[in-house]
Amino acid sequence: MKVVKTINEVKNIVNDWKKQGLSIGFIPTMGYLHEGHGSLIIKARENSKVVVSIFVNPMQFGPAEDLDKYPRDLEKDSKYCEELGVDLIFNPEPEEMYPEGFCTSVNMSVLSEELCGLSRPVHFTGVCTVVNKLLNIVNPDKAYFGEKDAQQLAIIRRMVKDLNMDVEIVGCPIIREEDGLAKSSRNTYLNSEERRAALVLSKSIFAGKKMVEEGCREVDVLLKKMKDIIEREPLARIDYLKVVDAMTMQQVNTIDRPVLVAMAVYLGNVRLIDNFSFIPE
Ligand code: PAJ
Repeated sequence: MKVVKTINEVKNIVNDWKKQGLSIGFIPTMGYLHEGHGSLIIKARENSKVVVSIFVNPMQFGPAEDLDKYPRDLEKDSKYCEELGVDLIFNPEPEEMYPEGFCTSVNMSVLSEELCGLSRPVHFTGVCTVVNKLLNIVNPDKAYFGEKDAQQLAIIRRMVKDLNMDVEIVGCPIIREEDGLAKSSRNTYLNSEERRAALVLSKSIFAGKKMVEEGCREVDVLLKKMKDIIEREPLARIDYLKVVDAMTMQQVNTIDRPVLVAMAVYLGNVRLIDNFSFIPE
């Protein structure tokens, strides 16, 4: 496995692979890898070669967000990637991705204006711009994204479609801790009290999923029950809890089409997200 820091190195290696007719699977990450990322890597082994990028992308963090304290451990990440059979890690410095004079961005309306876009106004422009750049650099056949970040996945799918990008986007299921909490690099921010309290996210998600599977189609009824579960926990504060159209991310009142039920909840200063999707008959 190689770890490279420059765009040219990645392009040269990938060009060689392409000349040999090899297929390439790509997983963009911000590092501090866990089994959630691992599941995408394992799925990507359906290609001949697997590339992982590890880049804490400054452009997708707001001014008051956790860019500086976002956890980083390249050595541990490299070992984990090696064990999982990754062929190449791209780990650029911010100056490599955003050299002096950089002034282009990919901005999406509609889908990025709901849910996380409301409390993180610059976030998805940063995500779209960096993912676009990474896809241009790595030029993979398939790129893998987690349903844990369901809005991000919907936005990437939309971007690839709208900009006629020649890559297949593969969505992968949420990987959870044994007690239900969705795995996230940000879980390391939680103290033991917050970690315990964080279980209200998955509890509410599982209860909501059960309700719709048993036939509930009224969004008000569903959200009341889900909200009650979270609000019983004094350490938890809801940022949002919504049911949206799975394609457009716009709110719906009735579950009469594929939907995403998504939440962001603060435990102290730590903001965690969780969701489930549902497609009615
Ligand atoms: P990051 O948070 O590191 O996540 C990288 C990928 O791993 C994303 O596609 C995310 O959805 C997936 N992932 C994270 N936790 C997961 C879990 N518990 N189960 C399944 N998949 C999980 O998302 C980003 O980085 C960035 O926004 C990025 C796309 C790299 C652009 O900078």
